[in-house]
Amino acid sequence: MDILHPAVDRYLTELAHKDDEPVLLEMEALAAREHFPIIGRLCGRFLEVMARANGARRIFEMGSGFGYSAYWWSRATGPDGEIHLTDTDPANQSKALDFLGRAGLDAPIDYHVGPALDVFNETAGDFNIVYCDIDKDGYPDAWEAAKTRVRIGGLYLCDNMLWSGRVTGESDEPDVRDGYTEAIDKTNRAIASDPNFRSFILPIRDGVVAAVRTR
Ligand SMILES: C[S@@+](CC[C@H](N)C(=O)[O-])C[C@H]1O[C@@H](n2cnc3c(N)ncnc32)[C@H](O)[C@@H]1O
Repeated sequence: MDILHPAVDRYLTELAHKDDEPVLLEMEALAAREHFPIIGRLCGRFLEVMARANGARRIFEMGSGFGYSAYWWSRATGPDGEIHLTDTDPANQSKALDFLGRAGLDAPIDYHVGPALDVFNETAGDFNIVYCDIDKDGYPDAWEAAKTRVRIGGLYLCDNMLWSGRVTGESDEPDVRDGYTEAIDKTNRAIASDPNFRSFILPIRDGVVAAVRTR
């Protein structure tokens, strides 16, 4: 199921291509070569816009891969930010630090190797933005842990909330792993009904939720 009409996707992506910088292109080429699921230009731009609009300085990311989404956070915060990245794979850490270093965007980065929720629980304080892109069975717990540690006025953002349309119950595509669709749907419903947040799922790429904490 296409979330966005392919022509609309192409149009939006073409507009987003004015950011063609060598390191960004290198990261995108690596993702294409290794079939690594980066968020891509449209979501990347969206994250940067959200972070800039929020004046975000302190950001926690769950599931960072080789630093593609962090590229956009770093553009938004500049060197005065504090961006915590997490991944269970140490090879991703070294790739991320290399890419972000060469892009001149590594100043605010603190990359932790380990399970995202454990690292989150060990990292003190609250955040302007918590962003989640880990294995999907972890989504309900990630939301539960993060929702009280997003500052009032801050954002919880999470990728793959439409899961190629499977959450609608009208997709014929089999799930990637048992329970993923249910976990995402459960999280969508929890976020949408939380009295302390106002939220919206933007149907670009695979659906990204933006939830602002109001109280
Ligand atoms: C979809 S990729 C992240 C892509 C990244 N956000 C980007 O757009 O550049 C998911 C990453 O999360 C990592 N991951 C999955 N579950 C995790 C968990 N529970 N804790 C930490 N990392 C996790 C995987 O190793 C993988 O690198």
